[in-house]
Amino acid sequence: MTAPLELAGDRLLILDQTLLPGQEVVLELRTADEVAAAILRLAVRGAPLIGVAAAYGLALEVASQPDVESLERGARALCAARPTAVNLAWAVDRVRAAALAAGADNLAAAALAEAVAIHTEDEAASRALAAHGADYLAGKQRILTVCNTGALAASGEGTALAVIAELARRSPHGEVSVLACETRPLLQGARLTVWELVNLGIPHALIADGAAAGLIARGEVDAVIAGCDRVAANGDTANKVGTYGLSLAAQAAGIPFVIAGPRSTIDPATPDGAGIEIEERGGDEVRYAGGALLTIADVPVRNPAFDVTPAALISALVTEAGVAAPPSRAAIADLLHATATPLSA
Ligand code: MRU
Repeated sequence: MTAPLELAGDRLLILDQTLLPGQEVVLELRTADEVAAAILRLAVRGAPLIGVAAAYGLALEVASQPDVESLERGARALCAARPTAVNLAWAVDRVRAAALAAGADNLAAAALAEAVAIHTEDEAASRALAAHGADYLAGKQRILTVCNTGALAASGEGTALAVIAELARRSPHGEVSVLACETRPLLQGARLTVWELVNLGIPHALIADGAAAGLIARGEVDAVIAGCDRVAANGDTANKVGTYGLSLAAQAAGIPFVIAGPRSTIDPATPDGAGIEIEERGGDEVRYAGGALLTIADVPVRNPAFDVTPAALISALVTEAGVAAPPSRAAIADLLHATATPLSA
């Protein structure tokens, strides 16, 4: 598989996810504005990966224009691209702070070093949280997931999908299987998760989003696991629209509902879910699918890209530093202060 993101000298190479699985086209981006535009149109997506992309975007910007004005302007452009995933602003703030601390003569080198550190840490987080998540879900075989949370959405193997991949590796006879929600409107499940599951060799079936609750109620799912775009201090979690409904169905059926993500997705400055800004995207994403008009051309549309699952409906939050089960305010604060080490190899 082509790497979803790679730094090559003065260019950031991005696999254009809007064209998958049909075509593997690599974009060459050189400025913060180009990276911001790629993030906005979801050519690169997934909370952790847009953080890494934005970090490199800012580093490239100051490599070509090594002054504080370019740093600040680039940081603003990147942060404005998408509001919900906190990893974006978190990564931009880290690169900006490292560059400013290094001073005018070392601005560009410090920005690049910080971007590389963010990328490396995200990959290590993916490995560790996969191990923690597989420990927590040991014995669960029929897993339902939503959106795309694999190698296309974060460094390494991803978040929720990395947990599933680790569970699958630990099951001696290939017992783990996945129901992948298609994830309208942009079909990250149908286009991206299915493609990754094929590459991983994990048995799976694609389902329409509307089929999920009924299949859960019929006892066909052992656990639901999803990624996250922002976890508030009290555990309320924003993730791809439709996640909240899955949590209600999981609770009604008495099965675990698990959220997985690196600690860069936890936002201690947001006290609860009410404070999370939900991105509203253009109506044509709902009116059209694969370029085909599905409805009346000018029908009014609402297109929130995310929803918030209350902490009370989340059985466990899986991070690289361990599992908060349930994700109480205190347990999340502990995770933020813990050292990240996998429970098992
Ligand atoms: O709009 P997207 O495709 O960026 O949304 C992605 C999700 O909602 C993922 O579940 C989340 O970012 C976690 S990805 C590891």
